[in-house]
Amino acid sequence: MKKIIYPLFIIIIVFSCQSPNSQITEKEKFINSLLSKMTLEEKAGQMNQYNGFWDATGPMPEGDYQKKRYNELKNGQVGSMLNVIGVEEIRALQKIAVEETRLGIPLIFGHDVIHGYKTIFPIPLAESSSWDLDLMEQSARVAGSEASADGLNWTFAPMVDISRDARWGRVMEGAGEDPYLGSLAAKARVKGFQGDDLNDISTIVACAKHFAGYGFSEAGRDYNTTDFNHYTLHNTIMPPFKAAVDAGVRTFMNSFNTLDEIPATGHKYIQRDVLKGDWKFDGFIVSDWGSIDQMIPHGFARDGNHAAELAVNAGSDMDMESSLYVSQLAGLVKSGKVDEEKINDAVRRILRVKYELGLFDDPYKYCNQERSDLELGSNDNMNVALDAAKKSIVLLKNNNQLLPLPKSGEKIAIIGPLANDKNSPLGNWRSQAVHNSASSVLEGMSKYNGNRTVYEKGVDLYYGKTNFHNRVKINYDDRSDFGKAKLAAATSDIVIMVLGEEGHQSGEGRSRTNIGLPGLQLELLKEINKVNNNIVLVVMSGRPLDLTWEDENIPAIVQAWHLGSKSGDAIAQVLYGDYNPSGKLTMSFPRNVGQVPIYYNFKNTGRPSTSIEQVTNSGYADVENSPLYPFGFGLSYTNFSYSNFSIDSDKLGFDSKINVSIEIENTGFYKGKEVVQLYIRDIVGSIARPMKELKGFETVELAPGESQKISFQIDSSLLEFYSYNNKWEAEVGKFHVFIGGDSNVSEYKEFYLTD
Ligand code: GLC
Repeated sequence: MKKIIYPLFIIIIVFSCQSPNSQITEKEKFINSLLSKMTLEEKAGQMNQYNGFWDATGPMPEGDYQKKRYNELKNGQVGSMLNVIGVEEIRALQKIAVEETRLGIPLIFGHDVIHGYKTIFPIPLAESSSWDLDLMEQSARVAGSEASADGLNWTFAPMVDISRDARWGRVMEGAGEDPYLGSLAAKARVKGFQGDDLNDISTIVACAKHFAGYGFSEAGRDYNTTDFNHYTLHNTIMPPFKAAVDAGVRTFMNSFNTLDEIPATGHKYIQRDVLKGDWKFDGFIVSDWGSIDQMIPHGFARDGNHAAELAVNAGSDMDMESSLYVSQLAGLVKSGKVDEEKINDAVRRILRVKYELGLFDDPYKYCNQERSDLELGSNDNMNVALDAAKKSIVLLKNNNQLLPLPKSGEKIAIIGPLANDKNSPLGNWRSQAVHNSASSVLEGMSKYNGNRTVYEKGVDLYYGKTNFHNRVKINYDDRSDFGKAKLAAATSDIVIMVLGEEGHQSGEGRSRTNIGLPGLQLELLKEINKVNNNIVLVVMSGRPLDLTWEDENIPAIVQAWHLGSKSGDAIAQVLYGDYNPSGKLTMSFPRNVGQVPIYYNFKNTGRPSTSIEQVTNSGYADVENSPLYPFGFGLSYTNFSYSNFSIDSDKLGFDSKINVSIEIENTGFYKGKEVVQLYIRDIVGSIARPMKELKGFETVELAPGESQKISFQIDSSLLEFYSYNNKWEAEVGKFHVFIGGDSNVSEYKEFYLTD
């Protein structure tokens, strides 16, 4: 047969013109080829994840489980490990998987890099109060880079659970109560962790969690059941998860809770129909810690074998710490209860992510001790943490311009158990932060006027040591230091009170029924207030607290969350005016716990209440419906005025746009930032619609006297919701549009969406 010799340039053109699909085919070809070599036991092994041999973030099994796991690792029956820390340990375990097992499939190493690895950033609820999406992306990038420098390649973040319940300790981990802002935050953090190329050694795989509805745990009690309807699921809970998929997130983690009375781990509709079906997600889903096994106490599975069957058939791809996939799946396939193709699909998803990380090319690429030594906790990274901390602070009250503090002259008393606390600011998910490494308020303020400040703890907040696993022992009876604190206050011009929650009083398993200042702190504050009312209250917490008495009696209040490694420096720079606070709340602060759940995008009801005097209207006899501080609220040292609110048409078609605009002016004496917020209300819908929905925002920075026109464009896509017809659509009718500095804005313009 005549041999046709193609000129080299034609051959190059042909191969270089390969469509992206052919490159993707390379990946899929590799995965399928490897899969075809695997035994059923090895496939089950890829779906099995164990905690490292220490520092668990959940309940560990009894007995000598380590030897059994070590053997399974050597037999290729472990696909992933979590909480293995440090280049040396990761390299050692990876070496077993790659060099001692039959197929040498590398492990993927995961860890909770939630708000920092060694450099600790503000807790996500704090950072979301910056409304600075670039910042959220940047802090995730730094955190991901530090984790990857230490050998890790997967973080169990971002947590994107919407929650409206300050009793739930994990509100600290999310971006608050709003799905629009929560979606943007999810996208920013996924981009930060994963970057544009997972093969890059400084990027790690992200994980959208907890899928789904965990933030609606009944009564704010962690791990509790949930009870929300199908429309809340799609309109409120799902959007941040969909945003994470659209941003390219490669893994999901499901959740401990039931929804529709079915445990999320065994929930086929959300995992297979929505996530893998409608949304075409081709990464993998890891269970939460033991959540497959926990379907037994849920009363949804008879035993471990049944739990494994339900979980894998519902689309849970990897088993975190139940040890049920590794022990049950082969038998379930052989007995015909599980189709091997479901196993193959799960394994392909896991191998796909490992391939994208480049682990098959170089399983040790993340194991570089020099890089770890250089990067972890670097000055550059700490500077990012300081910037994030400053921007996360929210000024809640500032009567008589008590703030900013004068940098000379006045004598200042710094009082409170958290003023000198270098641990609490690290928050609950503090990963590899060095113990006692956060800058304290005392340290931060001493850089300004150490010789004019006196410090008194005033009261112990808690006894003994605290960590991820134990309950903080709160002090409820020792007032012995009150006297010294009162004397310091009485002999000073200004008092800075630093009070709030210890760093482990919010976070996983930290639900509280009383969301006031813990222990004797409020009592101390009241005593101090008797001798000196020139008080600036700095609140450190992982959740909205009940600050009603404080708001009625204390002239200045600063919400300082748990701000991470540079907490004290950031707070001091804000208190002394070197940074004008710009944060805005992303979660409503209730007047008391009886109002919870409370949120700005509530439904009107058939009997809306506007006054406590109305009896047969939807209100309380003892407190008004509004929150103490609403979603989107935050003050500045300057003032902003809004004027010339206008709309260029009151008719919107499905293929047209309308513009709304407003003038904002800095009428004060300090340069400042303002987050200008756009809200829309759909007056009538096929289901009851919220009173307001955040649909846009823009941050402006204005010098004193400066003004700027801000415009937003509205099209029908902004009006879409998951309707009675079970699909995302905008419905014709009347709408109101608002622009202002928080969700309490009342002036609106009216427009109609018409066919
Ligand atoms: C925990 C948490 C989850 C975390 C996982 C691993 O129980 O619910 O958010 O990622 O276990 O630590």
